[in-house]
Amino acid sequence: MRSELLEILVDPVTGAELRLEEEQRDGEEIAAGVLAGTGARYPIVDSIPRFVLTEDEGQRQTESSFGYKWTKRDSFGSKGMDEALHAWFIDRYGFETADEMRSFFAARRRILDAGCGAGFSTSAWISENWNANGSEWIGADISNAIDVARERLGEFGGTHFVQADLMRLPFKSASFDAIIAEGVLHHTPSTERALKSLVPLLAPGGELMFYVYARKAPVREFTDDYVREQLATLSPTEAWETMRPLTRLARALAELGVEVEVPEDVPPLGIKAGRYDVQRLIYWNFAKLYWNANLAFEENVHVNFDWYAPTYAWRQTEEEVRAWCADEGLEITHFDTQEAGFTVRAVTPG
Ligand SMILES: C[S@@+](CC[C@H](N)C(=O)[O-])C[C@H]1O[C@@H](n2cnc3c(N)ncnc32)[C@H](O)[C@@H]1O
Repeated sequence: MRSELLEILVDPVTGAELRLEEEQRDGEEIAAGVLAGTGARYPIVDSIPRFVLTEDEGQRQTESSFGYKWTKRDSFGSKGMDEALHAWFIDRYGFETADEMRSFFAARRRILDAGCGAGFSTSAWISENWNANGSEWIGADISNAIDVARERLGEFGGTHFVQADLMRLPFKSASFDAIIAEGVLHHTPSTERALKSLVPLLAPGGELMFYVYARKAPVREFTDDYVREQLATLSPTEAWETMRPLTRLARALAELGVEVEVPEDVPPLGIKAGRYDVQRLIYWNFAKLYWNANLAFEENVHVNFDWYAPTYAWRQTEEEVRAWCADEGLEITHFDTQEAGFTVRAVTPG
């Protein structure tokens, strides 16, 4: 763990300053230590301070399904997957290119990547020399995906890793001039509380960037909950298995390559008139059956698992998201609306 990180760490419960203690094991002092505050002690394992305290069962299940997914290293990160999903990520936040996104972050002093996972999205822009100006990037995640993030991004300058719950982060207030939470806030017990818990960590004039799921058509919402409830009772390995036939169905539908004309709006099902590829019509209105031919089969399974396996995966309306930002005095500077979700950039008063 590097000293730049220690400067901003506090006890996530009491807010007290933390100091580094050497740990004694069998009378031997070992390099990995613990962080101690007023009474509480937090271990540092593999150079990562560990602060996870949650006892919420749904959050625990969500954590373990993400830990499973991100440690399954052969299920993400092919060239096809990186190109497809990174381009979507960069574009939603309003950047033209990865270079433009990198320059944006390189101009910030300290960035928090809240719920960084294995660093999949961050790897769209981070690179060896990204922090020539001395910027620091701190990745925090509740799950053991943080170990994978360290393996993947730890070689880049100015990167730090913390295992923690974003509802109770171990950082001094006003520590960051940018916070990004890409696809994370809706995986907590409350999207609203998660968003609001990040705001005090922003320095005046700091920017909050986040992506949250949008509420879908009514039958699709029903199916989402129905499948998610079944998966919540399974181990991650079993849940992954159940996603394979679902993914094969998605592929079969996509390979049809057939379009259908919906002649007029169908209000009871929330379907709008228009011409649709049959797989996309089903995807948006009846059941998320993801298939992208640029991704390997297991990567497609990964995307379907990502959707159905975590117990917490709330969907929200645009009005809700805008109201939460207004409550916190955040000025929205960018609001990207897609069927899948909302990508927002908002700043605190300077
Ligand atoms: C869909 S993944 C996104 C990961 C990363 N932001 C990306 O785009 O590659 C969601 C991540 O949120 C993390 N997460 C869920 N609840 C969290 C919480 N309360 N605190 C911190 N991380 C959380 C999960 O462990 C998971 O790695």
